[in-house]
Order: sequence, then structure tokens, then C-alpha cells
Amino acid sequence: MVMNKNSLSSYRDYVLGIESKVPLVDGKLTTAINFDNAATTPPFKTVMDAVNVFSPWYSSIHRGTGYKSKYSSRLYEEAREIVTEFVNADFNKDTVIFVKNSTEALNKLSYRLDKNNNRNMVLSSYMEHHSNDLPWRDKFRVDYIDIDKYGRLSLEDLKSKLEKYKDSVRLVTIVGTSNVTGYKNSIHEIAKLSHMYGAEIMVDGAQLVPHCPVDMKPKDSQKHIDYLVFSAHKMYAPFGIGVLIGPKSVFDKGNPDYSGGGTIDIVTHNYIKWAEPPHKEEAGSPNIIGVIALTAAIETLTMFGMENIFIHEKGLTDYTINRLKQIPDIIIYGDTENYHDRLGIITFNIKGIHHEILANILSYEAGIAVRNGCFCAHPYIHRLLNVKQDEIEKRIKNPELPHPGMVRISFGLYNTYKEIDIFIECLKTIIKNKKYYIRKYDFFSK
Ligand code: ALA
Repeated sequence: MVMNKNSLSSYRDYVLGIESKVPLVDGKLTTAINFDNAATTPPFKTVMDAVNVFSPWYSSIHRGTGYKSKYSSRLYEEAREIVTEFVNADFNKDTVIFVKNSTEALNKLSYRLDKNNNRNMVLSSYMEHHSNDLPWRDKFRVDYIDIDKYGRLSLEDLKSKLEKYKDSVRLVTIVGTSNVTGYKNSIHEIAKLSHMYGAEIMVDGAQLVPHCPVDMKPKDSQKHIDYLVFSAHKMYAPFGIGVLIGPKSVFDKGNPDYSGGGTIDIVTHNYIKWAEPPHKEEAGSPNIIGVIALTAAIETLTMFGMENIFIHEKGLTDYTINRLKQIPDIIIYGDTENYHDRLGIITFNIKGIHHEILANILSYEAGIAVRNGCFCAHPYIHRLLNVKQDEIEKRIKNPELPHPGMVRISFGLYNTYKEIDIFIECLKTIIKNKKYYIRKYDFFSK
């Protein structure tokens, strides 16, 4: 099911709420345009239907002998197989742990990852979301792989850091697709390099898994991915579920980060025998509704074909970059000459308009939803905006100072070329009437 510029095929029919009318500043209603899919996607109708169909059968997981409880537990466990297959994880050697979202998955991994053979170093990067940086800081020594002048991950720097830290690197932890520039990292190339130095690789798949095929590859390939995390709320499935996949052997060892119901085999007041992973890692009553939603989303995405989704969203991205480039006064972040590796996410500013004002103008004047600011990636934004250290220090001392930032648009599979055309025309109007709009919306920059 491929959509092209001239055919609106049925992706849109599967997404709930995309024809919703939202109010504008003049009181009129307009059809909302959602270009904020990197934050959260709207749900698939198939997901909501699956939740409704399942709801009468909703019951406790692994905690009951009633028919409904057994049925719910079976669906919950089968979901691990559906996830395994979706990303080609290893049925025998990996474990699929259900968590709340990618952030929780990364925090869990940071607690649970051992310092095997005294490897106490984690290589994160300059382009990470805070969730793939902060959790590591108080548990491992951390260094950051550099980026090049376009904001791309530098494989040269990765090599030199692997060489520098040699046998102490436990993990290279890297974003699959940047939530700021949309660069899609060469995860298998990075995996190969990491493995050559005896390190493992973790891929933050939050912005990757919903947008293109992801293959963790067999363990005997140097290019295999050791750990993968992703969030269902970015793949058309709300209800608070996310996934951490990694080798069973790592989670066999040690204590879970959270303990309690469901995590043990036997307990006395002075003895604990933990359950096997993944159960050991899922304290408390599991989120079966979230898991039902996730599996329905995976089934729908698979039916569309991840390669088709990739082609459609890549088309939207290239078209938008190309059109934005032609508008004077627009600054686009990242490479706009050679953008084969950019997927679904574009950040920009209009010269002379604060990002907060611009984001609000788009919403109030045209019903276009975007995100603005630093996107939970401060170090990356500082580099892309060339914010100097003394400016950062001024802001640390005085948090009232205006935040640096950008405006971000991010596509989902249901977005269209027509929506992009509306957006581009809106930007042109804003630029033509800059002074008027700045006066009207100035209070948003305060
Ligand atoms: N990390 C998500 C974003 O980039 C929430 O918007």
C-alpha cells in the first residue's frame, strides 16, 4: 500500500481523529494537521477496535485460574513472540520485557547492565535524547561520540573512542533516528564496530521502529543489535506500553530494578529466588491493555509493510526539505544538500521569530500542530544552534532567560503532500507579515 503525491490511499482510513476540527484564533474551525508524530501518534482504529473487542475478556495476568485470566495471560505471552518477530530478535536467546516506554526501558537497562569483565564505560553520543544519556551517568563512566558539522554521528569519532577506551567499553548506546534532525544512524555498521571491540550495542528505536523495517539480525552476525527499546505511543498504540529487548543472560543475573509481585519463584523472610526473565523484570500487575494495543499496531504496520511506510515518509521528508529550502528566511538544521539519511523529522527556524511564537502562530492561525524548544536533547540543540558555553552558563544562572530552540515537524504515515503544501503557504504568509504576527503573539516568548 504505497501512497504517492497524487493518490491518497487508505493509510488515513486507519487513523483515528485526523479529520478533527480544531478552533483557530478567529473562532473558525479547521481540520487539524498533526505534524507532531515524533512526540506521540494518534491511535490506529484497528488498535482501538482490538482493545474494545478484548475488554470483556480483560482479567489478571499470571494471577488467576479463571478462564478470562488464562486467556488474557495467553495473549500477553503471545505478544512477546509478535514483538520478537517484528524486529527479528532471537526467540531463544533474547527476552522481551514490557515496560512503560523507551525512557523506562533505558532506565531499566542502565540499572541491570552488568560491568562484565570490568567494562565500566558507556559510549553515548551528542545526538541523544536525554533518556539515552542521563540514566547512564550515575552508573557507568560515560563519554559522548561526536557529531560532524551537519549534526551527523561521526563514525570516525566512534572508532577513535573505541580505540581509546578499548577493553573498558561495555556498551555503545545510540539513537536509531534522531528526534531532532531525523538522521537515521547506520546501526548495523555501528554494531559491527562495537562488537569488534567486545562492546555491545543498544539502539533507541523510539523514532525508528514506527517508520522503517528494523532487523536485530542473528546473534552470529557481527552486525546484530544486542538491545532495542521502543514505545507504543509513537506507533499508533496508546495505553502506556513500551519494549526492552536484550539477551536473557544479562537479565538472568542480579536483582531486578523493581521487585514485588510477579518477580519471584519463592520468598522467605531471608531468601529470594527470582523468577526467570522477563517475569523477573515486570514487577506488579502487567499492562495487558497496552500489550493488546501494541500487538494490534504491529499487525497493522506489518499489513501496510514497513518498507512502504518508509518510502512514503521519506517522500514527504524530501519534498518538505526541498520546498523549505526555497523560502528565504528559513533556517533548516542538519544537511539540506545530501539528505538521503534523513527520515520524517525536520527542525527549522524563521529568522527574527522566536520558536515559541512561531509554533503558536501555526497552531492558532492554521491548526497545524508542531513541537518547539529543545526536544529533550539539550546538548545536541546547543551544538546545532552553536550556543556558546558562556550563554549556557548565563541560562543556568538565570532560568528566566529565553530558551534557545527550534520548531520541529515530524511525519506519520497518514500525513499528505497536501498538508505540507498548506504548511508551506502558511510559513510564507507568516514571513510576509512577520511584524504583524510578532506583535500579535509576542507574549508567547516571555
Ligand atoms: N521524545 C519525544 C519527542 O521528541 C517526546 O517529542
